Amino acid sequence: MSLRSFIEKARQHGYLVIVDKEINPYLEMARIINALDGRPVLFTNVRGSDYRVVAGVCSARKYFALALDIEEAQLLPILIEALTNPVEPEVVASAPCQEVVEREVDLDKLPILTHLPGDGGPYITAGVAIIKDPDYGRNMCFHRLMKLDERSFAARIVEGRGTDTALQKTEGDLEVAICIGNSIPVLLAAAMSPPKGVDELAIANALRSTPLVKCLTKDLEVPADCEIVLEGRITHRLATEGPFLDLTETYDIVRQQPMVEIDCITHRRDAIYQALLPGKSEHKLLMGLPREPTIYAEVSKVCECRDVLVTPGGMSWLHAVVQIVKRHPNDGKRAIEAAFRGHGSLKHVVVVDEDINIRSMRDVEWAIATRFQADRDLIVLEDRPGSSLDPSATHVPGQKARTSKMGLDATIPWRKPDGTLRTEAEREAFKRVDYGEVAPEGLAP
Ligand SMILES: Cc1cc2nc3c(=O)[nH]c(=O)nc-3n(C[C@H](O)[C@H](O)[C@H](O)COP(=O)(O)O)c2cc1C
Repeated sequence: MSLRSFIEKARQHGYLVIVDKEINPYLEMARIINALDGRPVLFTNVRGSDYRVVAGVCSARKYFALALDIEEAQLLPILIEALTNPVEPEVVASAPCQEVVEREVDLDKLPILTHLPGDGGPYITAGVAIIKDPDYGRNMCFHRLMKLDERSFAARIVEGRGTDTALQKTEGDLEVAICIGNSIPVLLAAAMSPPKGVDELAIANALRSTPLVKCLTKDLEVPADCEIVLEGRITHRLATEGPFLDLTETYDIVRQQPMVEIDCITHRRDAIYQALLPGKSEHKLLMGLPREPTIYAEVSKVCECRDVLVTPGGMSWLHAVVQIVKRHPNDGKRAIEAAFRGHGSLKHVVVVDEDINIRSMRDVEWAIATRFQADRDLIVLEDRPGSSLDPSATHVPGQKARTSKMGLDATIPWRKPDGTLRTEAEREAFKRVDYGEVAPEGLAP
C-alpha cells in the first residue's frame, strides 16, 4: 500500500487531520505536528511550495497494523516472517515516482521543514537512502539531510553501518537515490539492520508488494510508488552537520559529515512531501519497532521468548522488556545476554515472566519490586559499544560510543538465597492473587 493509499485509509478511519490553512514549513509546521503527535496530518496549503506535506503516518502502532491489514498483536510475528523470508521485488518499466523529471535541480522547491530555531538548517528527515555496496549489493537506510544550498546536503551517516562502509570502499562518489514519501513497509524495512547482503527492499516486499523502478541517472532501483526521488551522489567531501534535535529530544553532537549532491529529481505529478518530527512518536516507533523481532530472534535461541517491547520511555531505542516462559533457573540471565545481542544499542533490559503485562510499566515495576534482588538478579556489562544517541555515553569522534549496560532479571527466582531450588508451590507464591471478577450491577450508587 503506497503512502497516499495509506493516507486515504487513515482518512476513512477518522485518524487523519487535514490542515487547509496556509502553514509555513519554517518552524510553524513542526509545532503543529508536535501538537498533533500521534495523529497523521496532511497539510494541503504549504507556504512557498506546490507540494502537500504529510507527517505522523507512523506515529502509533495502530497505523502500522492498518497499513499491513493486521491486528497490532500480529506486528511482531509479521516482522519476524519478513526478516526471515525476504522476497526479491520485481522491477517495472515505468512508475508513478517518475511522472515528472526535473534535471534542473532546485531543492528550494521542496517544502523542507526547519524544526527549531536552533537547528543547523532545513532538514529532510523521512528520506530513505538507497545505495549499492560493491560487495553486498543494495542497502536502504534513513539518513537525515541538512540542506546546504539548492543542490546539496550534509548527510548524517552513522559510522560502521551499511552506507558508511559502502562509502569507505568507494574511491569516488557513491551513487545514491533518496526516496521521500514512502509506504509504511519501506519505512519499516529502511529502519532495519539485517545481516549484510540482505536486501531491505526484499524485506519491504515481503511485508507488502513493493515493485521497483530503475533510476533515470543512477544504477539504482527505487520503490515505484514513492512520491519523490532525489538522484545524486554521496561525496567524500565533508560539511558541518547540525545542530539537530535527535531521538533523545536533546541536541545531537555537531559533526563533519559527507556532502550529498543531487543531479536529478523525479516525482509524482501531485507529489506529497513526507515530514517526520525528530524526537517524537513517529521517529521513536520507527526506530524501536524493527528491533523487537531481532531481540525476539536472539532470545528465542536461548529460551522460550513470548514477547518483546522496546519501550517508549527509553526513547524506543535504549530500553526493552522481554517476556519469557521460564523453564530453567538461568533463563532470565540468558535472555538478558541474548537481548543485548539482538539490539546493539540496547542499554537496559528487564526480563519478566508470562504473567506480566509488558505493555504496562506499572506491571513491569511490580515484577521488579517483588521478584528481583540486585545482588543476585542484576547483570552489569561495563564499557561496551553503545548508542551514538545516548548523551551520557562516552563519545570519541569517528568511533562507536561506549556505554555500560544493565539487565534486570525480574522473573520469579527459582533459587533461594542459599542456592537451593524452590518447589513449584513456592514459585507459585510469587504470583499475584486475584480477587476474581464480579458483575458491577446493583453495586454502584
Ligand atoms: C527515523 C529514522 C531516522 C534515522 N536517521 C538516521 C541518520 O540520520 N543516519 C543514520 O546513519 N541512520 C539513521 N537511522 C538509522 C538507520 O536507518 C538504521 O539503523 C538502519 O537500519 C541502518 O541500516 P544498515 O546497517 O543496513 O545501513 C534512522 C532511523 C530512523 C528510523
